[in-house]
Order: sequence, then C-alpha cells, then structure tokens
Amino acid sequence: MTGPPYGPAEKRESRITVAAFFLAAFSAVVAAFSPLHAGTPDASPEVDRGMRMYRDGILPSGEKMRADTAGGVTFTGAMATCEKCHRRSGMGSSEGGTRVRPVTGAALYHPKEVFGAGHDRKLPVTTRIYPAYTDESLARAIRDGVDPEGRRFDYAMPRYNLTDADLALLIGYLKSLSTSGAPGVTDNVIRFATVVDSRVSPARRNAVVDVLRTFFRDKNAGTRNEAGRARVAPWTDYRKLRAYRIWGLDVWELSGPEETWEAQLEEHYRRKPVFALVSGVSAQGWEPVHRFCEQHGIPSLFPNTDAPEVSGPGYYTVYFSRGVALEADVLARHLSGEPDDIRRGPVVQMYRDNEVGRAAAGAFRKSLAAYGVSDLRDVRLPATGDLPEGVPEELTVGNVPATVVLWLPGSDMRILGERPGGAYPPRRIYLSSTIAGTAAAAALGAPNREVYVVHPFALPRGKEVQDRIRIWLAARKVPPGDERLQFNAFFAAGITGDALDRMLDFFSRDYMLEWVEHMTEESPNPSAYPRLSLGPGQRFASKGSYILRYAPETGWFFPVGGWIVPEVR
Ligand code: HEC
Repeated sequence: MTGPPYGPAEKRESRITVAAFFLAAFSAVVAAFSPLHAGTPDASPEVDRGMRMYRDGILPSGEKMRADTAGGVTFTGAMATCEKCHRRSGMGSSEGGTRVRPVTGAALYHPKEVFGAGHDRKLPVTTRIYPAYTDESLARAIRDGVDPEGRRFDYAMPRYNLTDADLALLIGYLKSLSTSGAPGVTDNVIRFATVVDSRVSPARRNAVVDVLRTFFRDKNAGTRNEAGRARVAPWTDYRKLRAYRIWGLDVWELSGPEETWEAQLEEHYRRKPVFALVSGVSAQGWEPVHRFCEQHGIPSLFPNTDAPEVSGPGYYTVYFSRGVALEADVLARHLSGEPDDIRRGPVVQMYRDNEVGRAAAGAFRKSLAAYGVSDLRDVRLPATGDLPEGVPEELTVGNVPATVVLWLPGSDMRILGERPGGAYPPRRIYLSSTIAGTAAAAALGAPNREVYVVHPFALPRGKEVQDRIRIWLAARKVPPGDERLQFNAFFAAGITGDALDRMLDFFSRDYMLEWVEHMTEESPNPSAYPRLSLGPGQRFASKGSYILRYAPETGWFFPVGGWIVPEVR
C-alpha cells in the first residue's frame, strides 16, 4: 500500500493537476452533519465504536471484523480494517494500479456538488460522475460490493458480512470523517505554531524561529489574489486556488517545570487554535507536547528533540528519528558484532541524570541485553554541575573496561580530557554526536586510544543541495546559526507546504499526515539526516546511524561499516 492517492509523478505541477482531477470528482462541501473530530474526546460513543471498526477491525461485541476477499480468502481484525486501504482520513490511497476511493461522508453523499463551483467549467468528456450514496446503497456497497449504479467493485474492496446495527455504526463513522471544519483554518488563514522550550539557548531557539518566520513570510508574499482567480478559474485550477490561505505562525514558548507544559499548551491552543505544529525545539524530551497532540489530533511535524516519546502509541507527531535511543540501538548492534572486545571487559556507560541521559542509557542497556550482553556498568552523574571529582577513576574500578560509552555533552568531555584518570584510559570510547557533537572527540582523542562517535546525521556531502538552502537563507538575511537546526526547520516548513499543496482544500489533519508520510522520502530539501522515509503509520523518519572513528593525527572522521540500521525488535 502506498500513501495517499495518485503516487508521485515527475513534476509537482502535473501532480497537482492529477490530484485535482481525481479529488475534484467528489464534493468537499461541508456535509449536512456536523463534523466530528473522531479520535478526540469530542467524539460520541457511537462514533467511537464505528471508529474501532474502521481503524482496528474490532466489532462492538469485541470480536474481530471479517473481510471476504477474492478466492474465498478471509481476513480478520487488523488485516480487515478499512483504514488499511482507505487511510485514517478516509481519503483513500492507491495500491498498484487500483485506486481506493474516498469514503468520507462528503465524498459518498454529495455528488451533486461535483467540481464544486460554477456552471461553465468544462469537464473532460471521459470524466465519470459518481452517483450519491444513501444509507441503504452504502450498506449494500460494504456488504455486497456494488455501487448505487449496480457496478460490482473490484475484489480489492473486500465484502463485509456485518449486522445491521454494526453497519449503522460504521456508516455513522464514515459520515463523521471530515475534510472541513478543522481548527486553525478560516476562509483566509491557516494557522500553525512552533513549540519552543525556553530552556534552549537563544541561539538554538532563533535558528528554528528565524527560519520558520522567513519561510512563512516568503510563502505569503508569493500569494497573489488566489481567491479572485479561483472565481474564474477552470475547474482543474479551482481547488488549488481555493485552497490558498495566508499562513500564520505563532511561537508557543513553554517555560517552568514540564508538569505545567500541558496546561500552557492548552492555553495557547484555546486562545488561538492551530491546524498543525511545525518544527520546534526542546532542550530535553518532548513528552508533554506529544501527549497534547495525541489528545487533540494535531499533527506535529519534525520537532527537534533528542529524546522523543518512543514508548507510547503515537500517530500525530512525526519525528526525524528516535534520537539517542536510536544511537543506543545502533551502538549495541555495532558492539555485538565484536564479541572479542566485549568479552575482554565490561562495558561502562556514563550519563547525566536528565531526560536525554536516561533515555540513552536505558535504551542502551535494553539493547545490549537483547544482544546477550549483560556486563554493563552504569555511572550516573548529577543532571547539572561540574563533573564530580574522581570520575575517570570510577570508570575503572575493578577490571579495566574494554569499552566506555559517554552519553555526555561536549563541556563534560573537555573536563574529562584534562583529568589524569588513573588506570584510565580504556581502549575504546564512544561518544554521542547528538549530545556531544563531533568536535568533542578532539578532547579525548589520544594516540593510544580509539575514539568513536555515533553519528545519526548526514556526513558532509553533496554540497549543492545544502548550498541551495544556504543561499536561500543568506538572500533572506537569516542570521547564521546552528545549521542542523536551520536545515531541520526548513525541511519541516517545506514539507508542510508540500503537503498543503497536495491536499488542495481538503483540510483534514489525518490527510495531511498521509501526505507527509508519502512525500518525506522524495523531499528535495536536505535535513540534518542523510535519508528520511515513512511507511504508513511510521513516525520516525531516519532509521540508522553512522559510527565514525576519530583519527587524532589528522582530526578526521572515518565511517566504520557504513550506515547501520538496528534490527527492529
Ligand atoms: C484491501 C483494501 C480495502 C479494504 C480493507 C477496504 N476497502 Fe473499501 N474499497 C477498496 C477499493 C480498491 C475500492 C474501489 C473499488 C472499485 O472501485 O472497484 C473500495 C471502495 C469502497 C467504497 C465505494 C466508494 C465509492 O465511491 O463507490 C466504499 C463505500 C468502501 N470501499 C468502504 C469500505 C469500508 C467501510 C471498509 C471497511 C469496513 C473498506 N472499504 C475496506 C479497498 C478496500
């Protein structure tokens, strides 16, 4: 199954036209029912039960739904969900050459609004206008696979043997699937926010905010009387033009203890609802923001955090990567490939007792254990303050460790490098590029010691692509700043724009996420990561890391063993 309908064509313009062609074949006019935002606490119990069938394949009785497909094959439960093919938004997708048609209430019940506006818009002669469904004909479609004109569906659409009561719930849910009325969208404006943790340095904050503000300003400057042009446009351009909105950006600054963040987010949202969150930056984790977005069904695209929420189920936040947890898995995999080294002594990890440090150390312990290595010693340091005296010695209590992993920031590394350190140094030291940066390797590098950096980012590369953004930034007088963050913010804003282009005026948040899944891989914009991709439902776009070896003689880094993707466990 690929993403939303109408897979990637070569050129953006042609893609939009193709999308416009198909999407225009049904109505986006607000349906007669009030749009419910299913999946949020606002949904009624009936809609919730219909949603369980649609998304999870679970009947109200708790039994699994059954789908009969070609050749007498029956799927049940998760295999039989409507979401698998029609996607969470209900806007459909394409599988091979088969188009999976939209099943939102507006799409099924309002064909008379086809093409949306005007009397004189000429349609291609081959255009098929789909007839409206009624509750009865829709029930027949789901049970028997026939449309209102009696046409039999392709067997790619299974037949569902459902009771009248269950079918009514399911149909109620389809009606609630809405592509209009989403918060943050008015006739003229679509609002976004970026969340900034006030603990981050002004430089890091500005790297993100400056790029976003500039991107938004540029975007809005390029908008020229689309509403007026929409009134006279041929139908192929109509939806595209009608979709234009001024982009509004709010900066949601979060301060104080993390326990208060959720209330702060609620307050921002209550005052000025937004359609989605774009980019953002945190000094540590992202959990309260993650939870808030799940609660309200708000897409949050590519925040910068080293410790994303990786435990709970998540749909609405799309992360660049699993952060330090990914680094830990890659390192565990790398080390498990070198059994001799590991057996020569214990592995020791040292970390600060903060969210990022704990996330890294916890993931590393778990991951090593999964590879059968349990001889891991932890040295936990206070969250802040100077390195305690005697830290290097502590590393070498008992036998000398073969391997030391330092989940520490660069500032700690410099102090560590200056201390004498007893029986230290161990043979190998591993650093985190996310936490320490690569420059920290120089503080520890000595000829008799091997220093490695786990580096989940792109290597310096293909300058042309990056230069394109550097030129863009310079031309718009964006002050120089942390490039990793600048590129990431640019990427997040760019993909937001790309998704909105394809969505036309179907402002559904779930639909947006489906487009983001689909387009992340093809985005021409570089981020800090070498390759990004999202399968349906995946929320971590970069899936591996390099391990770089530091050469103290030259100060260069060499990748060891290429791009390493840990096994999925
Ligand atoms: C395995 C993929 C798949 C699953 C699962 C699936 N569908 Fe479909 N569905 C399709 C395809 C493909 C079509 C288009 C068939 C055609 O046009 O011949 C379709 C068509 C439809 C139509 C007709 C749309 C129209 O415009 O005429 C409805 C309604 C529908 N599906 C509802 C559902 C519901 C409700 C579920 C879950 C109970 C579901 N589908 C599960 C693939 C699927």
